[in-house]
Amino acid sequence: MSKVLSGMRPTGRLHLGHYFGVLMNWVKFQNECECYYMSADWHVLTTSYVDTSAVNENTLEMVADWITAGVDPEKSVFFKQSGVLYHSELFLILSMITPLSWLQRCPTYKEQISQIKNKDLSNYGFLGYPILMSADILLYKANIVPIGEDQLSHLELTRKIARRFNNFYGDTFIEPKEELTKAASVPGLDGRKMSKSYGNSILLGESDDILRDKVKSMFTDPLKIKTADPGHPCGCVVFAFHEIFGIEYKNREEECKAGAIGCMSCKKQLMEMLSEFMKPLTEKRKDLIADKAYLEKIVEAGCRKAAEIAQQTMEEIRKAMKF
Ligand code: ADP
Ligand code: NA
Repeated sequence: MSKVLSGMRPTGRLHLGHYFGVLMNWVKFQNECECYYMSADWHVLTTSYVDTSAVNENTLEMVADWITAGVDPEKSVFFKQSGVLYHSELFLILSMITPLSWLQRCPTYKEQISQIKNKDLSNYGFLGYPILMSADILLYKANIVPIGEDQLSHLELTRKIARRFNNFYGDTFIEPKEELTKAASVPGLDGRKMSKSYGNSILLGESDDILRDKVKSMFTDPLKIKTADPGHPCGCVVFAFHEIFGIEYKNREEECKAGAIGCMSCKKQLMEMLSEFMKPLTEKRKDLIADKAYLEKIVEAGCRKAAEIAQQTMEEIRKAMKF
């Protein structure tokens, strides 16, 4: 049976980028594969290490969001990275065999170093965190890794590290393959990738009032002012969401281009779809969030199960390296 590993950082509530970009695949795989879903809590330290007081609480909230999205803790193993110490051992070993240039060349590293000014990224951990991500994946011998488009380069690096290790010490690791959804890069309200750090997100469980304001503020084609103006759906956030919901989007594209529909009506329809979609999620989320003890138990049990697998792999690794 195929093995699936995927993770998210517990840095706050999840948004529609996580839902349509990744969680839909988590749900899909839970019926076909052995699935490990991880709260990447150590990874939070790579971008904010001063105040760590909310990390545990955020893991529990994130688990609630996963269940809200339909991921089932009875079918998949939910765990947190810091609860399985083998991740740190493999991280150490892989750090030793990974050339510095591979990390310096990572597009995500170059991009963040040049764009993000309000965080201290000038530390060893930030440069090395793709190695920790590789350790997370290789430790479970996962063949499939559901991710968003922004993580592709990290998965490529994981495969390179696996190959390098296998060359030195003999076949130990499996080279994992990514799995993308149809919406591998969900746009945020402003048209950039939806991301917590850009403040352009729609959260899971968002109320109707906030949804309405957010849909109103969505970026649309600036050349389409009156209804009759021919629109350019490519790049329009509202259109992108119509496409994500998959509702008669071919017609919508024609209508927009022909000036048969205005942006306001288009937004109104989207608002209705989003509201319908969100209602049951909001209800479900409210109940889950109220039961922290239940969420804690899921994570504790998951850590024990994950540690069994991780321990087996670590033993193979030590044997291969003659430690
Ligand atoms: P964020 O970028 O919001 O901080 P994470 O870095 O924790 O979120 O990302 C967790 C997972 O969700 C990754 O696989 C990432 O690729 C995916 N993801 C995040 N935002 C989006 C998006 N807007 N569209 C598609 N996938 C996304
Ligand atoms: Na990301």
